[in-house]
Amino acid sequence: MEYNFKKERNKMIAIGCDHAGCEMKAAIIDALSEKGFEFKDMGCNGEPCDYPVIARAVCEKVLSGECEKGILICGTGIGMSIAANKFKGIRAALCADSFSTKFTRLHNNTNVMCMGARTLGVGVGTELAEIFLTTEFEGGRHQRRIDLITEIENE
Ligand code: RB5
Repeated sequence: MEYNFKKERNKMIAIGCDHAGCEMKAAIIDALSEKGFEFKDMGCNGEPCDYPVIARAVCEKVLSGECEKGILICGTGIGMSIAANKFKGIRAALCADSFSTKFTRLHNNTNVMCMGARTLGVGVGTELAEIFLTTEFEGGRHQRRIDLITEIENE
């Protein structure tokens, strides 16, 4: 499959990991750069670090509009997803299988995906990232549900 998104819209992707996720992050950047995506690597570079710091850096890029979506990787993906979902306007999904990854884009319009480097192989992680980045939100009745989530967020 060939993607040529750069001319059409913002396909800049913010990506970050803690020390557990560097190998998977590098594999995703390598594989998906070849398919037309551009990445802003928000760290870490292998040194031990605290995942909420990286989650903040990636979410801020998405919320500012500089990046269209974000990818976060830690050991399980759970810490990253808890941290990312604290940011107003971020809908982060912990992704571990292709069906959920596809449907979280179609139905939840999630703008950040989180993955566990210690629970998924690099090959699976790369494939899920491609699904996440290439599946468009369906809109319609699903937008109403997202609006209801936003209402909760604003309470
Ligand atoms: C780091 O050892 C580990 O706690 C982290 O990568 C992540 O799994 C947290 O949810």
